[in-house]
Amino acid sequence: MHKTEHPTSRAAVLAGIGAMVPPRVVDNEELSKSLDTNDQWIRTRTGISRRHWASPGTATGDLAAVAGERALESAGSRSVDMLILATSTPNQPMPATAPEVAAKLDLGMIPAFDISVACAGFIYGLSTAAGAIASGIADRVLVIGADIWSTRLNPEDRATAIIFGDGAGAAVLRAGDPTERGAIAGFDLGSDGARKDLAMVPGGGSRERSAPEAAVDTDEYLYMRGKEIFTHAVNRMGGSSAALLDRIGWSADSVDWFAGHQANARILHTVADVLDVDRERVLIHLDRVGNTSAASIPLALTDAAADGRLTAGERVLLTAFGGGLSWGSTALTWPKIYVPDIAS
Ligand code: UT7
Repeated sequence: MHKTEHPTSRAAVLAGIGAMVPPRVVDNEELSKSLDTNDQWIRTRTGISRRHWASPGTATGDLAAVAGERALESAGSRSVDMLILATSTPNQPMPATAPEVAAKLDLGMIPAFDISVACAGFIYGLSTAAGAIASGIADRVLVIGADIWSTRLNPEDRATAIIFGDGAGAAVLRAGDPTERGAIAGFDLGSDGARKDLAMVPGGGSRERSAPEAAVDTDEYLYMRGKEIFTHAVNRMGGSSAALLDRIGWSADSVDWFAGHQANARILHTVADVLDVDRERVLIHLDRVGNTSAASIPLALTDAAADGRLTAGERVLLTAFGGGLSWGSTALTWPKIYVPDIAS
């Protein structure tokens, strides 16, 4: 059989992007009033100055719908035939939040489902959408990453309370040609469930509810073993990025922008050093929004494209890591698209 360079002629191409953060700003000074921490420690150890937290009454699906609307506007068309929402903080345990978002956006009765891959969720969402497009199941897919972790932070835990912010980011992928700008070049994905203890919400699931002694108070705070997660994040994002670059034939010095999961600036700079990507090429958005989990990569991309740093024709490497443990990387050459401002 004749083999083409690409296994399929139908590539997934980025057609639109958009993101949002809720209006309430929580700066380091505010956190220092209730926690044993301070602005200088948070900024030097993480790079974060402030984050946005959703107001009472706002659910993840509400943020997802706003980001989704902006991505549709960026794509110049409301036509999509699938919606994938990456979130670990859904509106409720069942049903999934995605159908509600699709209804809110008036997208018709399209297939809509959630995927739960913590901070790596957006990359997994892109890979699921790319697979659906390559197989012909869908022609245009709206992928949203959204999380509200602020309501699951133990107010006495300074390791998590200082890091996480709320937000949503979205992208429209359409069927296209592998050689055009915006075509997703490939994926590297992985997980290690043996280390699930490094970042988890222990309560609220079937394990807790099937325990011989039924829990009276469920423990639904987010726990994170920061130091260990830090090491795994560097190793996995570095290894996954290198594997992807090798697979798609890109050299590290051909990467114009490194869009890594925004958990800690020190992690991103260390991964860039490991990959031999110039630190100047690292997109930093966490200083203003913190770690927004599944929203972090589309938020960073939207921020950089909206302010004119990221421009058409530039090569972007995306890599993420989070609870699971789970990680993933992808890459594309940035297309010429209109990008609505995050604050608009
Ligand atoms: O989203 C994906 C998953 N999450 C991540 O990738 C997060 C990865 N982890 C991190 O970003 C960092 O580990 C943290 C920001 C959570 C913590 O930073 P660290 O540099 O690893 O701090 P540490 O836990 O090693 O603590 C160093 C010192 C300790 O004091 P001593 O023992 O040296 O006196 C801590 O008690 O800093 C202290 N400390 C703090 N001080 C002020 C820890 N947290 C704080 C704090 N404010 N918030």
